[in-house]
Amino acid sequence: MLIRTPRKSDVLSSEITPHSVFLRRREFLRAASATSATAALGPFMLSDPAFAGAKLPNVKKTKWTAESLGENDKPTPYEDVTSYNNFYEFGTGKGDPKRKAGSLKTKPWTVVVDGHCENPGRYDFDDLIKVHALEERVYRFRCVEAWSMVIPWVGVPLADIIKRMGPTADAKYVSFETLVDPEQMPGQKFAILKWPYREGLRMDEAMNPLTLMAVGLYGEEMPNQNGAPIRLVTPWKYGFKSIKSIVRISFTDKQPPTSWNLSAPREYGFYSNVNPLVNHPRWSQAKERRLGGPTNVFGFVQKRPTLMFNGYEEEVAAMYKDMDLARYY
Ligand code: MTE
Repeated sequence: MLIRTPRKSDVLSSEITPHSVFLRRREFLRAASATSATAALGPFMLSDPAFAGAKLPNVKKTKWTAESLGENDKPTPYEDVTSYNNFYEFGTGKGDPKRKAGSLKTKPWTVVVDGHCENPGRYDFDDLIKVHALEERVYRFRCVEAWSMVIPWVGVPLADIIKRMGPTADAKYVSFETLVDPEQMPGQKFAILKWPYREGLRMDEAMNPLTLMAVGLYGEEMPNQNGAPIRLVTPWKYGFKSIKSIVRISFTDKQPPTSWNLSAPREYGFYSNVNPLVNHPRWSQAKERRLGGPTNVFGFVQKRPTLMFNGYEEEVAAMYKDMDLARYY
């Protein structure tokens, strides 16, 4: 995400790796891995937190496979998915989350469920998630900054969790909050955003079969930098909706406040549906760069058209059929 009004506490934009530099670094790493010199790096690669995830057992395949997406949507390499991140609780640079998120303690983990439901309470991670069968779903992921990935998530449909909580008729929205603990999340010592990070969905969006509570990727436990141990995934919405390291789920009767809307309401709305026809006030949303995607003659990743609802129109368009999507962005 890009911050509109720099404050004293913000990291200078010159300190943030520009996207093009990152992409060139990837090419460099790829070339380097072909040389024998990198063999000597082996032991260090193994101690890298991004490679530490334990394998998740009994993950069911679903209809959302890499094959179903096709040739143009190959899964983004694990290295890219886990090293180019947005997780402001650990800093605003894309490499900060991987470097710094080791301080986040994800076991044990408790999620508070409250608001308009029959089964509120404090749920241990296993009681909330592991009572369900884990599924693999390969989804497109589109960031509002106009880059994208394809990620094989592992998780549980949010609808299954919601049904167990027994929402009442007053539950019109579901809101989510990330942990607040500046000792574990050093970025929270700065007022970059109003902590906790918050997100929300309308009830029908939360119950949509695409909506996933993800607990891993590439068959392994979620790396901390990607939002361990539990984060939301809504593939037809911009990436900032997919709140990480969730500690609270609340059923509300009013549309809940969300972090980026609070921070820059003209730029980030509640719905945040991927829409190539509605530009961000400061840049176009018509095209995107796929990390790890085909490069041009200069070695830069080529732009590709962004799809309406990120290609999930068939599954989600009906939820917005009477809405002006330029107004409800
Ligand atoms: N969740 C929290 N708690 N804090 C954040 O800063 N960033 C969001 C979203 N979830 C963010 C967050 C943004 S802007 C994006 S694009 C995605 O996480 C990035 O997810 P990824 O790092 O797994 O690609």
